[in-house]
Amino acid sequence: MAEQRFIIQRYDPDSAESYREEFSLDVQPGQTVLDCLNAIKWEQDGTLSFRMSCRHAICGSCAMKVNGSSMLACQTQVSEAVELGDPVEVAPMGNQTVIKDLVVDTTKFVAQFERAETWLEPHEDQEPPEREYRQTVEDFDHWSHASTCIHCGACYSDCTVAAVDEKFLGPAALAKAYRFVMDSRDSKREERLKFLAETEGGIWDCTRCYMCVQACPKDVLPMDAIMELRALSIEAGYTNNHGSRHHKGFASGVRKRGRLDEASLPIQSVGITRLLTLNIDAHKEMLGYTPGAIRLLKTRKLLEAAKRHGASQDGREHIQRIFEEVEAEKHHHDVDADAFAAEFETALGSG
Ligand code: SF4
Ligand code: SF4
Ligand code: FES
Repeated sequence: MAEQRFIIQRYDPDSAESYREEFSLDVQPGQTVLDCLNAIKWEQDGTLSFRMSCRHAICGSCAMKVNGSSMLACQTQVSEAVELGDPVEVAPMGNQTVIKDLVVDTTKFVAQFERAETWLEPHEDQEPPEREYRQTVEDFDHWSHASTCIHCGACYSDCTVAAVDEKFLGPAALAKAYRFVMDSRDSKREERLKFLAETEGGIWDCTRCYMCVQACPKDVLPMDAIMELRALSIEAGYTNNHGSRHHKGFASGVRKRGRLDEASLPIQSVGITRLLTLNIDAHKEMLGYTPGAIRLLKTRKLLEAAKRHGASQDGREHIQRIFEEVEAEKHHHDVDADAFAAEFETALGSG
């Protein structure tokens, strides 16, 4: 048994006072952060508020920040938490309003599932089965990882886009949407892909920061699901949006020159046809790039970028082959990412 210090972020809604409070208690090997919060509440301060239910990483209610990262308190051993920082700092989840101490208002998080309509829409012409709607093991394999979500919100709490964009659907709702896009029993695949590709706060707003994958206690891999949704939406033809034009412009620059073409990327992202047809929104979008372009000109970065030649002929051939191999694959999760990364290294090394 060893004495352990905890610093807990408190919030009193009556006085609107926010403060940090330190507690110490004797911790047994194997005890979790949730065990300690319970001990503090039962033995030291009954007013300490937090959510919990199952204590077995199933209900998702005890997600909170431990030493800065979102995780399930019932799944986190104190010994692991101490490795991240001592004393152990406990705070409420991010990107949601705090109601009291470690309890947050999950309305915004839950609303994203409703926006993405994450429930099964069976085929209308299908007779309801006597028992459940069946799915083959092979089909289930495509989205089994996305089916394990317990709606704890840890990914949403650490998401860098949700922090700045209220409209972003967020990693959990997008991973859930992916689950229904991939479910052969669902009838709304096309509508779902169109919505996710074109709505504000959809799949193209993710910055691929990886925080959701790190935070998720159930290996749902939300970011991978979002990347897969991007590929599927392009395959389905939902390309008339900034995100997929940017993606295409980015890839075509690398494919042609072996490097990112910063100068033409904004034009390609906004859409050459839209600009030529005097689309007002397209010209407004171009104007949005002006402050950044001026900064790049002032710092001479644009000039430096234009001078770069990209990969050599040899390198470009490597890159061309990588593109061909990737395009031959049906889904991202079939691609051997490590092998492709190694091949890219070789290609750029010969540049
Ligand atoms: S990878 Fe995308 S969804 Fe995941 S945390 Fe980062 S921005 Fe959010
Ligand atoms: S995706 Fe993972 S972290 Fe996000 S809500 Fe579901 S289980 Fe929690
Ligand atoms: S108490 Fe249920 S997941 Fe932690």
